[in-house]
Amino acid sequence: MSAPRRPFLAGNWKMHGTREEAARLARELRGIIGGETERDVAVFPPFTALAAVREALEGSPIGLGAQNCHPEVKGAFTGEISAPMLRDAGCAYVLVGHSERRQLFGETDDTVARKLRAALAADLRPVLCVGETLEERKGGRTEETVRRQIEAALASLSPADLERITIAYEPVWAIGTGLTATPAQAQEVHGFLRVRLRALFPTAVADRTRIQYGGSVKPDNIDGLMLEPDVDGALVGGASLSATSFGAIVRYGRG
Ligand code: 13P
Repeated sequence: MSAPRRPFLAGNWKMHGTREEAARLARELRGIIGGETERDVAVFPPFTALAAVREALEGSPIGLGAQNCHPEVKGAFTGEISAPMLRDAGCAYVLVGHSERRQLFGETDDTVARKLRAALAADLRPVLCVGETLEERKGGRTEETVRRQIEAALASLSPADLERITIAYEPVWAIGTGLTATPAQAQEVHGFLRVRLRALFPTAVADRTRIQYGGSVKPDNIDGLMLEPDVDGALVGGASLSATSFGAIVRYGRG
């Protein structure tokens, strides 16, 4: 039996919220889950709201993260934000390789690998997102796809690096569609990812790595997902924009 992994529930706010709206959401969330001690929680607001959310969450157990970073530390990269800048802005976490970045902004496995290294070098905790498209699933290429994605990102990293990384399995067909993977479908891929992690890293480290599920997670489907042995948390989009629903997701299984 592997050691129990501490659940990690995260809210990806995507491109939503003025500073005021984001701070309000953070304050509401703090009111609901500010006393959480058994589970890790983090929110990923847009860059412009990081400072306001940081202030609203000061002294609470809710962590702060950004949705993207540039692979370089600084330079002539107009419009980009580096990992050290995010650290300076108070972020503990950063999403890397979200499917929207891969699909809409042309991020390749190589870019994702470079961003992951930049995040680690800046002492951030990256959440590495992987997941297949509907076409890949229908073509029977789910495992091949997520294997390629994690191997490209994690190859040549040390076990100590992996200790700082969370994997998020987000099937593209389940994101924002209301089509959640069933708990069994999620477990099938999470279990496969765990096997691949064990092939790349010492078993103890692979077994400590948390694998979140993402894609239409809601208060009414989180319980079933979290019962699966290799589902260690969730990366929540739409339902994280309401403090009530994200609060309920964080508090899953407590009735
Ligand atoms: P939804 O929960 O809105 O499907 O989004 C999932 C996601 O992309 C989280 O990163």
